[in-house]
Amino acid sequence: MKNKIHFKVCERQVKEKKQLFTAIENECSSIGYYDLPVQNVDSILNYTDTFEQEIENIVVLGIGGSSLGAKAIYEFLKPVKLPIRNLYFFESTDPLNIMEILSKIELEKSHFLVISKSGTTVETISVFKYLYEKEANPSSYTFITDEDSDLDKFAQEIGSKVFYLPANVGGRFSVLSVVGLLPLALCGVAIKELLRGSNAVKESFFNDGYLKETLLNKAIFYAKYHTTYNINCLFAYSETLRYFTEWYVQLWGESLGKKQRHSAFHVGVTPIGLIGPKDQHSFLQLIVEGTRDKSVTFIKIEDFENELTVPNLTLPHLESLDILNKITFHDLITMQSDSVIEALKEQEDIPLDEILIKRVDEESIGELIYYYELLTSLVGQLIDVDTYNQPGVESGKIILKEKLKNYQYKGKK
Ligand code: PA5
Repeated sequence: MKNKIHFKVCERQVKEKKQLFTAIENECSSIGYYDLPVQNVDSILNYTDTFEQEIENIVVLGIGGSSLGAKAIYEFLKPVKLPIRNLYFFESTDPLNIMEILSKIELEKSHFLVISKSGTTVETISVFKYLYEKEANPSSYTFITDEDSDLDKFAQEIGSKVFYLPANVGGRFSVLSVVGLLPLALCGVAIKELLRGSNAVKESFFNDGYLKETLLNKAIFYAKYHTTYNINCLFAYSETLRYFTEWYVQLWGESLGKKQRHSAFHVGVTPIGLIGPKDQHSFLQLIVEGTRDKSVTFIKIEDFENELTVPNLTLPHLESLDILNKITFHDLITMQSDSVIEALKEQEDIPLDEILIKRVDEESIGELIYYYELLTSLVGQLIDVDTYNQPGVESGKIILKEKLKNYQYKGKK
């Protein structure tokens, strides 16, 4: 992958970059995701080999970090690589959504992956209860959770297969662990290629490759200007990256929106996911003429490996659009993103950068994932937050549990 930065970075911040790099190096001993690219995946692959052909659907029950990563990768690859099984996600308590997914799958041809690090997430367990009442065969389920969680104990009791999250890997940083790798491997994704891509970024950052400088510069800029440019737009020029932007919004939002560790200030950089060219006809106006509070990162695909072409057709009254004739859609979408970038560059006060990934394959998405995880850790260090916790979502959960207790009580009366 390549990353071209169009805003002015301060090359002289040598001491600051050194300190930041050391802080991240130090985190490696306590934060588990850094080493995921070099893990051994034999146990995952051996397990996938035991699956019979009759299983047509892999159904994930999980939410947030337990679902978004696998979904981003699966949806990215789907248009170019026909999955060997369909992957579905129960991520919601919306009854209509539950019914809709159920109407698409035959239970006998489905295997369910119940994924919850804590093992007690309301969304996941409520849907699991619903399905378990219909399908109580323990071999229809695989559980992925923390060792010794209540869900682990339940799975052991019914005799289902359980995988554990590696130590110190948080939900939203878990896509390259069994949480993301197992569902993807079961659908035919080459998970070793995925890890190869992420390892290339890891090596480049930790062993003085070019991404080290780029990532440090970018993080320092975002942190320095986090009150001015407090919104980061990720503008991806491919429909394949739609769910990647959802994953990024969760990673960035839940990791960086916090009260600072050493002050009473609340900070964060608001993530926005955009898809080109669609959002040229929508959000772009706000970027170009709205408040100067946004930085924009464009993601482009270098080679779509697809020759679909606009035919050489002249239409009455539409002759002015003959300029589109014989252009490949690949070139068209690239010209569209380049034109927007050029127009934004003219504004001079909108910080821009471009990420170019080679093609739609496992390696490229593996690179992108690890790149964004690193960037999140770097910015988190600099804006002085605990990147890996999420205390802000706890109070709502406590209130919900109270409401549920009252609901049960009233229901029994
Ligand atoms: O990133 C996180 O930690 C969260 O988004 C969790 O992934 C999410 O809340 C689901 O939690 P769990 O995996 O414990 O069910």
